[in-house]
Formats: sequence, C-alpha cells, structure tokens
Amino acid sequence: MKNYTNLILAGLVIILAAALTGVLVYVKNQPVQERAVQPLFEIAQMEPDSSKWGVNFPNQYDSFLKTKTNNIDTTYAGSSQFSWLERDPRQVILFAGYPFSKDYNDDRGHMNALEDVRKTKRLNLNDEDPKHTPATCYSCKSSDNPGLWDRLGMEAYNKMTFNEMTPNINNSIGCSNCHEAGTMRLIVTNPALKEALERQGRDWTTFTRQEMRTVVCANCHVEYYFKGDGKYLTFPWDNGTKIDEILSYYEKSGFKDWSYPGTDTPMLKAQHPEFEFFTADSTHYKAGVSCADCHMPYTRDGAAKYSSHDVHSPLLNPEAACGQCHTDTEYVVRRVNTIQEQVATTKLSTEDAIVDAINAIKAAVAAGNADPALLDQARKLHREAQFMWDIVSAENSTGFHNPEYALKILADSANRARQAQMLAAQSIGDVSLLNTGTYYVTPVP
Ligand code: HEC
Ligand code: HEC
Ligand code: HEC
Ligand code: HEC
Repeated sequence: MKNYTNLILAGLVIILAAALTGVLVYVKNQPVQERAVQPLFEIAQMEPDSSKWGVNFPNQYDSFLKTKTNNIDTTYAGSSQFSWLERDPRQVILFAGYPFSKDYNDDRGHMNALEDVRKTKRLNLNDEDPKHTPATCYSCKSSDNPGLWDRLGMEAYNKMTFNEMTPNINNSIGCSNCHEAGTMRLIVTNPALKEALERQGRDWTTFTRQEMRTVVCANCHVEYYFKGDGKYLTFPWDNGTKIDEILSYYEKSGFKDWSYPGTDTPMLKAQHPEFEFFTADSTHYKAGVSCADCHMPYTRDGAAKYSSHDVHSPLLNPEAACGQCHTDTEYVVRRVNTIQEQVATTKLSTEDAIVDAINAIKAAVAAGNADPALLDQARKLHREAQFMWDIVSAENSTGFHNPEYALKILADSANRARQAQMLAAQSIGDVSLLNTGTYYVTPVP
C-alpha cells in the first residue's frame, strides 16, 4: 500500500514537472507582444496620459521619457535641432516663397514633438488669413489625437484652425499613438493611414506582428498632404508608394503646396517619407527587418526583456541596434558613413542643378517673350525635380534606409533640373541661361 502511495506521488510529481516545463516553454516562445498583454491597472481606451500606462510598464515608460532630453548629434542627424537652412543655404533658395525657407530644423525625440510644432516659425496663427495653419498640423504630434479623432471625427478635426485645436492638445506623442489599451497590441491610430491602406485594398488588421513593427511608424513617418478646403489629411498612395506612383498621383490631382516666386512653378513639399522609402524594396525590408528592429532594440533589465522606447539614431547604440544581426558592427557602421557621404554629396550637386534651373526659368519669365509651351514644360520638370530631391532630403536617414533608391531618385532629379534649364534657355533662345554653378557653398559636413 505504502509502495503504491509513493509510486502515485512520484508519478504526480513527474506529471506536474512536465506540465510546468510545458507551460514555461510555451510562455517563453510567445512573442513579446502576447506575453506582456495584461496591464495590472486598467488603462482607459485611447488614454492620452502616458504616465497612466507607465504604471504598468515602467521599463517602456522610463526609456520613452529619455526622448525628451536626448541631444547627441551624429554626422547627418541625431537629436539636436540644428538648422538645415544654416547648414545648407541652398535650401533657403529651394524653398523660397514657402514657410520652410524661414525655419527648418532637424527632428528630435518623440517627447518634444508638441513643444517643437508650437515653436516653429512656420506657423501662421492669424485665423483671418486664408493661409492660416490648420489643426491638421497637430496630427502627428500628440497622444490626445486618437481620442479626439474618435470623438470629433477626422473631418471636423481637420476643419478647425490650429488655434482652435490648441486647448484640446495637452500631451506630446505617447503610448496611445501606437498601442491599444488593454491588449497592448500595435495598431493603426491615424485615420489617414487606415484610409490610404483601404484605398489600396489592404486591411491592416490582417497584418503580421512583424509588419506592424514597421506599419505603426507609418502613422506619422510618411508623405502626406492636406486635401481640399477641409484640409483633410491624405496620403498620396492610391497608385502605390514608390516615387513615380506618388508623382503621378499629384500630377492627376493637380495639387500644389505653393507657387515658386519668379518662375510661377506649382511646387510640392515632400514630408518625412521614411515608410515609403524603406519599404521600396530596400535590402533590410526585403530581408524582413522592421523599423523597430533598429530603432527600438530589445534591452535587458535583470530577467526582463523589453523594447527600448528611447527611439533615436541607431548610430548612437549600434551594438544594440545592429549587433543583434550583424557580427561586425564596426564594419556596418562604416558602411553607413560611406553611404551617407555619397548620398549627401550627390544631394548637394542635385541642389545646384535645381538652383540653376530656377535661375534660368526666372530669366526666361522676366524676358517676357518666352515660348509658353517650352516654359510650361520647364516648370513641370522643375516641379518634379524639386519633389524628387525633397523625397530624399526630407527622408531622415540620408539615404541609409534605401541607398540605391536614394541615388536613383537624385540622378532622375538632376536630369530633370538640367532639362528644365535647357528648355528655359531654348524658350527665349539665350544660351547664357545654360551657365552653371551660379550657386556653390561649402558642403555640409
Ligand atoms: C537597418 C536598420 C534600420 C531600419 C530597419 C530603419 N532605420 Fe531608421 N535609421 C537607421 C540609420 C542607420 C539611420 C541614420 C542615423 C543617423 O544618420 O544618425 C536612421 C535614421 C532614421 C531617422 C532620423 C534619425 C535622427 O537622428 O534624426 C528616422 C526618423 C528614422 N530612421 C525612422 C525610421 C523608420 C520610420 C523606419 C521604418 C519605416 C526605419 N527608420 C527603419 C537605421 C534603420
Ligand atoms: C504619432 C506620430 C509618430 C509615430 C507613430 C512615430 N513617430 Fe517618430 N517622430 C514623430 C515626430 C513628430 C518626430 C519629430 C519630433 C520633434 O522633432 O520634435 C519624430 C522623430 C523620430 C526620430 C528622431 C529622434 C531623434 O532623436 O532625432 C526617430 C528616429 C523616429 N521618430 C523613429 C520612429 C519609429 C521607428 C517609429 C515607429 C516605431 C516612430 N518614429 C513612430 C512622430 C511619430
Ligand atoms: C512610436 C510607437 C510607440 C509608442 C509611442 C509606444 N510604443 Fe510600446 N511598443 C512599440 C513597438 C514597435 C513595440 C514592439 C512590439 C512588438 O514587438 O510586437 C512596443 C512594445 C511595447 C510593449 C511590449 C513589450 C516590449 O517591450 O516589447 C509594451 C508593454 C509597451 N510597448 C508599452 C508602451 C508604453 C507604456 C508606452 C508609452 C509610455 C509605449 N509603449 C509607447 C511602439 C510604441
Ligand atoms: C533584424 C536583423 C538586422 C538588423 C537589426 C540590422 N540588419 Fe543590416 N542586414 C540584415 C540582413 C538580413 C541583411 C542582408 C544580408 C544579405 O542578404 O547578405 C543586411 C544587410 C546590411 C548591409 C548591406 C546592405 C546591402 O545592401 O548590401 C548593411 C550595410 C547593413 N545591413 C547595415 C546595418 C546597420 C548599420 C544596422 C543597424 C543600424 C543593421 N544593418 C541592422 C539584417 C539586419
């Protein structure tokens, strides 16, 4: 009898141990997102106050807070707000007649987004002026937005002025911009992204977790424009997200951000198209790498492993950012330097070509007797050249996210700019307009 009891006890212990091992193996193999789903303290849906989420997730919250005070620069980027207009005065010419020629600083951490948008000299806070800044400019700057879009609707939100919206906006970017409370899964929070994907026949709720680690950044790091009088936030993706597809979209809609002084070219301003640029068949995207892999690498806190929410340039922590996949970190960082130097130099010579085109078209317009068809063709090429250059310039990685694509776009841009210059010269039959190098300054770093 006693022997039986021992045997049964031993059997029970073995079964329990096996079950426990099974549970542990199962838990360990769960993706982080599914593991960390249960907040201890309930978080309201779309809660704008990140500190309320932080009670549950102190590691993510503490690392997120660091984005407020980061200020270290790299060669071409980093976390200070250096002025692009001072570094590269060609840009004052390229953006003439548009607010970007007044104030254009490098980006910094997520916790500063609200302060920085309120401070920029690009704002026009005179609500009587037809060109006043719309509320739409707050779209990517605050964790209050998901709740506001839900309550007001996107259309009503976008019809308000920046001033009118200001009292509703109290927090910089936060947890609610990327996560669903309760489950903590990554979600599309910006209606403009949801709608742009839908128009392409894509439904983000079917995306894999790895895809979402990139798509969640597309809530903001994309090219966009304000459509119509209602300033409706819209991504120009109906034909696709590659440069030619975006250009053909704008061609069809006839949209312009501003008119270039002296040439009368209908201009486009590119925003920060990191998502479109990275996903245009870059090596890393093709290999299944996500934005979060490089910008939010896993970090250890004792036994706990969490995604660093201190999002910044990966060149400041290459061991964590690149070392998870590349054994020779020094080598890949050197590659980044080489790629960026090549792209930055090519970008400057492209700018020279566009400035020459601008000067030639201006002279042709001023002459008063230009062939209108040739002049119009020159303007079209000027518009395209500038937009292509800007897609690379406003993209924040100085080409690294997709090096071959960056150089291809810059080559196409310079080609268009030189053609524009030639057409302008032809339009008044004056070869002196073919002069080049009217504007050369000290190159950036
Ligand atoms: C393979 C790694 C990698 C991936 C994947 C990646 N990046 Fe980057 N990213 C970099 C590097 C390297 C830089 C250049 C940093 C520098 O110049 O200091 C950079 C720069 C940036 C910058 C500018 C940083 C600064 O300091 O101003 C932003 C913004 C950015 N990336 C966003 C994204 C987004 C959004 C995605 C996904 C669509 C993405 N990145 C995918 C490596 C990566
Ligand atoms: C809610 C909008 C929003 C989302 C979502 C978002 N970003 Fe940003 N991001 C911004 C804005 C705005 C800035 C610039 C803030 C400033 O300059 O004050 C920025 C800045 C950055 C920078 C520059 C930081 C520095 O120190 O210079 C990096 C890198 C970056 N984001 C990467 C990402 C990645 C990767 C994702 C996705 C995991 C992401 N962002 C998601 C809006 C967003
Ligand atoms: C810019 C987008 C963004 C913001 C803002 C953001 N997160 Fe995350 N978060 C991510 C991404 C990307 C992951 C990785 C998810 C994955 O791998 O499935 C993540 C993962 C997590 C996880 C899962 C565990 C882990 O570390 O991988 C938790 C918990 C979390 N975040 C909490 C927070 C909290 C709390 C805040 C606000 C203080 C916050 N997040 C703000 C993008 C964001
Ligand atoms: C999640 C994994 C992963 C991370 C993180 C990662 N890489 Fe990569 N990287 C890859 C893969 C996969 C390839 C393609 C390798 C191949 O096909 O041989 C690659 C290729 C490269 C190449 C060669 C590119 C080319 O076109 O030939 C460079 C340079 C590079 N990575 C730099 C970096 C840098 C710098 C970082 C950190 C900022 C980084 N990588 C982070 C996975 C990663």
